Order: sequence, then C-alpha cells, then structure tokens
Amino acid sequence: MLTETIVVTGGAGFIGSNFVNAWVRHKLGTVINLDKLTYAGNMENLAGISQNPHHIFVHADIGDRVAVKALLETHRPRAILNFAAESHVDRSIHGPDAFIQTNVVGTFNLLEEVRAYWQALPVDEQQQFRFLHVSTDEVYGSLGPNDPAFKETNTYQPNSPYSASKAASDHLVRAYHHTYGLPTLTTNCSNNYGPYHFPEKLIPLVIHNALSGKPLPIYGNGSNIRDWLYVEDHCSAIREVLAKGKVGETYNIGGWNEKTNLDVVHTLCDILDQERPKAQGSYRDQMTFVKDRPGHDARYAIDASKIEQELGWKPEETFETGIRKTVRWYLEHHAWVARVTSGEYQHWLNKNYHERGEELA
Ligand code: NAD
Ligand code: TYD
Repeated sequence: MLTETIVVTGGAGFIGSNFVNAWVRHKLGTVINLDKLTYAGNMENLAGISQNPHHIFVHADIGDRVAVKALLETHRPRAILNFAAESHVDRSIHGPDAFIQTNVVGTFNLLEEVRAYWQALPVDEQQQFRFLHVSTDEVYGSLGPNDPAFKETNTYQPNSPYSASKAASDHLVRAYHHTYGLPTLTTNCSNNYGPYHFPEKLIPLVIHNALSGKPLPIYGNGSNIRDWLYVEDHCSAIREVLAKGKVGETYNIGGWNEKTNLDVVHTLCDILDQERPKAQGSYRDQMTFVKDRPGHDARYAIDASKIEQELGWKPEETFETGIRKTVRWYLEHHAWVARVTSGEYQHWLNKNYHERGEELA
C-alpha cells in the first residue's frame, strides 16, 4: 500500500529546504529527504525539524540506484519531488561536468528506479502516484525586450550548460510519461529569492557583500532582466501542482515581477540603508560593474496564467514585501551566512571574480 509519505530530493538546498520545512510545519505528512550534500546542501537549513519524526534524512545521490531503490521499497511513497540539481549558471560555465552528471544522468537514473517501483504497484496505486520534476524558466532561452513572457508552449532554447542540462532532464521526464505512462508533473519557475539562498546567487551575494564592505559585482551594464518570486510562493505553487495538476502537464510559475539587475541591487542597497545604515554614505557606493557572463541571457519573464487559471494559485508576496523580508532574514542569520561562506565558497569567489578584476574572497 502507498503511504502518505513523500520523497523530496535536494531537500537540503535553498528551495528544497524551504519546501521541506513548510511541509513539516503544515503537518502534511512525512518527508523522506534524499540529498547528496554538495556545497549547496546544508543540514543547518533543516535544523528546526531535525528532531521531528516526520522528517527523515537520507544522505545519497539521486543517481545511486541501489540507494533510491531501497528507499522506495522501504517507504512506499505516494510521490517523489525532484529538486536535486546543480543550479548555478556561472558554475556550469566553469565546470559543466557535474551538471550533466546530476541533472541529466542523475535524473535518468532516478526515473529508471521510479519507473520500476511504479510499474510494480497495483493499478489504483499507479494512478495515485506522482513524479513532480522541479525545473526552471531558463530552458526557454532569452527574451527580447518586447517579446511576450514564456508560456508552457514556448520552444526550448537553453543557452547555458545549466539550462541545457535542465532542459534535457525535462525532456526525459516528458518521455517517461509519454512512453511508459509514468504520472509526471513538471514545473518551470522563474528566479527565486528568500531565506537559505546560497550567497553565490545575485541577491544573497549582494546582501552579504554589502554588509562585509565588499564590492557589489554587477555583470555587464546591469540591464539584464529576471522575474523574481519569493521562495515560499514557489513552494505553495508546487504543493498546488502536486495536489491538482493534470498528469503529463507542465506549469510555469512566476510572480509577474520583472526587474533589471540594477533595479534589484538598488532596492537591496536602499533597504539596507534603512535597516542597517552605514556610518557614512550609501551601500550603493559599493556597486561595481564587472566583466559580463559569457552568453548572458538578456531577459526571462514568466506568463503564469495557466497555473493561476487552472489551479487557482497566486503568489502572496510582492517583490517589495518579499525582498524586505529577505534582507531582514539575512540580517538576523549572520551566523548561517558566516558558516556557508567559509571553506569552498572562498575558492569559488576566486575562480569567478578574479578574472572579472574583483577580489571578493
Ligand atoms: P541548490 O543548488 O540550492 O540546491 C540543490 C540541492 O540538491 C542541494 O541540497 C544539493 O546538495 C542537492 N544535490 C545536488 N546534486 C545532487 C545529487 N546528485 N543527488 C542528490 N542531491 C543532490 O538549488 P535550488 O536553488 O534550491 O534549486 C532547486 C531546484 O529548483 C533545482 O532543480 C533548480 O534547477 C530549480 N530552480 C531553481 C530556481 C532558483 O532560482 N534557485 C528557479 C527555478 C528552478
Ligand atoms: P543568478 O542569481 O546567478 O541567477 P540566474 O543566472 O540563474 O538568473 O543571477 C541573476 C542575475 O544577476 C543574472 O542576470 C546574472 C546577474 N549577476 C550579477 O550581475 N552579478 C553577480 O555577481 C551574480 C552572481 C549574478
């Protein structure tokens, strides 16, 4: 018999840990959290539920078929949500191998074990089961200034090794539904921000550097546009898709919040100027324009009408409310930031910013 248990992969990362924490907090059932604990995975993100019997952590790779098989047979989950991935575009430019291994080969191995588990279930349980794949809007490529926002029907045109590897995983998930009938759901979400965001990404990096008195590196001229969604809104959308999504479908998730990078950095500096004023001047004084990212996508924007109309989902936060909450979270969690920015992180800063003429380490 299927249990009320779900499996989350990558649940020690940014979005996964927000999802797992909310799932346990809302008492929605037991979560088996499978994570490899790469540099991006952090058990401290799960400290609040470490003693909770409804959270079981398994240290493993999604590509480890023996571990995945054992976990499925032991826990008999009703759903698997695949958050696990290498997720940073700049790292994918410096070293694409890990992206192919986890995002493509890992997802393939996971799908194979899930297919074997699912095919052995009685028919009624097969119908209840779901495999939900968490993906990104970056698979659609880059928009021009006047192009309409990404719809689920847009063609895939990934431009970075990261987005190409995510696109490949989306295609595998689609094929497993089409060929084997595996009850899949795929979500393609825009850029997230919020608590537990690793400070290699723009928003937490800028907050951390601002408070450390370091340069705030802006790639190119800062005119690139991203569509920002508060992470808890992404998690609520995933819960809606899991509960009500139509099998085999894909859902775009976004909050209609297009901003240039310059707008985002200005907003962060202005909030910090209010919340933690400097002795002299503004955090804006630390802004520095640096060498651009190769192949830098100009604009992402999500058309979220399908999930809004078909599933009734809407984000709760505006960019203004979400970004202020986020800044306050970082101000209150200095020890978390200090711990995740020691060690390997310093090597990354050297690798990514030294060639851009900035010493951030
Ligand atoms: P993250 O890098 O913060 O976390 C990834 C997690 O996956 C980490 O805990 C890591 O240890 C784990 N992991 C990596 N490789 C693994 C493997 N082989 N086996 C098991 N665990 C492994 O990523 P995130 O920002 O939380 O993103 C989660 C998912 O959401 C990803 O699939 C990403 O593509 C997607 N997504 C992210 C964003 C965003 O803005 N961050 C937006 C849309 C979609
Ligand atoms: P990022 O947070 O890496 O997300 P993604 O590349 O997946 O959208 O970057 C967001 C935007 O910010 C992107 O246009 C690149 C830019 N950026 C900077 O300008 N400076 C930085 O130091 C970083 C990390 C990103």
